[in-house]
Amino acid sequence: MQKLYIKTFGCQMNEYDSARMAEVLGASHGFVRVEAPEDADVLLLNTCSIREKAEDKVYTQLGFWRPLKQARPELIIGVGGCVASQEGEALRRRAPFVDVVFGPQTLHRLPDMIDAVRASRRPQVDVSFPEIEKFDNLPAPRAEGPSAFVTIMEGCDKYCTFCVVPFTRGREVSRPFDDVVAEVEGLAAQGVREVTLLGQNVNAYRGEMDDGTESDLALLLHRLALVPGIARLRYTTSHPNEFGDSLIAAHRDIPQLVPHLHLPVQSGSDYILKLMHRKHTAAEYLDKVRRLQAARPGISISSDFIIGFPGESDADFEATMALIEAVQFDQSFSFKFSPRPGTPAAELPDDVPEHVKDARLARLQARINELAAARSRALVGTVQDVLVTGASRRSARQLTGKTACNRSVNFDAPERLIGQMVKVEITEALSNSLRGRVVLVDDDLDPAALRRRA
Ligand code: SAH
Ligand code: F3S
Repeated sequence: MQKLYIKTFGCQMNEYDSARMAEVLGASHGFVRVEAPEDADVLLLNTCSIREKAEDKVYTQLGFWRPLKQARPELIIGVGGCVASQEGEALRRRAPFVDVVFGPQTLHRLPDMIDAVRASRRPQVDVSFPEIEKFDNLPAPRAEGPSAFVTIMEGCDKYCTFCVVPFTRGREVSRPFDDVVAEVEGLAAQGVREVTLLGQNVNAYRGEMDDGTESDLALLLHRLALVPGIARLRYTTSHPNEFGDSLIAAHRDIPQLVPHLHLPVQSGSDYILKLMHRKHTAAEYLDKVRRLQAARPGISISSDFIIGFPGESDADFEATMALIEAVQFDQSFSFKFSPRPGTPAAELPDDVPEHVKDARLARLQARINELAAARSRALVGTVQDVLVTGASRRSARQLTGKTACNRSVNFDAPERLIGQMVKVEITEALSNSLRGRVVLVDDDLDPAALRRRA
């Protein structure tokens, strides 16, 4: 049996792509995934280039793998993801012991590339963008637990001035409507209760339907809510500009759609938003948030923030802090600006001093953490829907699960509840998780189960 080791850096898209790599190679060559690189016949590194730090990790990791290759020349090392896409052949100049370089859109060609390396002992590089071909060549995904990711679109056409994604992942391409529905039905049949729709820009989804028309994200969500067994729908990431009325209405009308949304704003300053080419103002963002809050009261909203974008003054940063107060964001992601080669913002003078970036980042993160903690405390005493995902890491008797707004909850419960939706009364808010007590189990509502107990 051939053994495969995959190391993943970066976003949820990459986690999803790594799982697809394992499935493709499992189907073609019977590869099984192993936990230690020393045991593997093929090592794959799925890379991220969104920020400089992410990119540096790639060459450090390859440095760790180099002695393995020296000891076992038949070992195959492959590099995929956004660094591979960006560097192509150049990656092999810096790391000549790499055998396969593939991009996010060519991972389905891995079996052929590995065969070609073995047959010819020559490296293989393919970082092209054959677009939708990738989806057509992937085996149906296997469910791992009650929560699953489903890619509905790839790429991004927004060209924010700081971002490499449009260059590394290519243009926006949506999967056909029926393919997504079939994949979700297949996962639901395997016990999946929660589906997260993935894409760089999911609300740009325009999936072809069999009558020749196109579905937007809202229509897709309405259809997926009808799939038996699917109790929860999430999607990530969206762009504020394409956050239209149909999607706001979907948050009002679809009970399975969780009351949580990741809607990155990046900055609260109109001047910086303009330099970032986000094409909206802070007020326009806030207006969408207000309409969303009216459609789904209590909805939790999270964002990504970039600190220290070129030209960011104290006043610009204060505008970001003011927007944070206005929206009351839940737990969010914030990063210092990192100039990315080939992007327009990398040409601007990176003029915010490092210590100023550090101070702003610390202040923003402290405030966001306070807001998130207040939200957690407000949950104490309420009853929350929780999807039970597995055993708790802390204690054998405890299980763990996720609330609709993505908080971890630990509670005492029998193992048979794993994979089910339960109602949990929240008893305590800790810094990174909640504690609770199960008050109702999904199958308590199932008439057959009630009869069995009577
Ligand atoms: N649509 C994407 C968002 C792109 S990357 C998604 O699916 O998440 C995620 C976040 O990284 C961005 O929202 C942005 O806040 C951050 N980011 C992207 N480029 C960056 C850069 N050059 N410097 C700092 N942060 C960056
Ligand atoms: Fe990047 Fe902006 Fe698209 S952040 S992924 S170019 S929406």
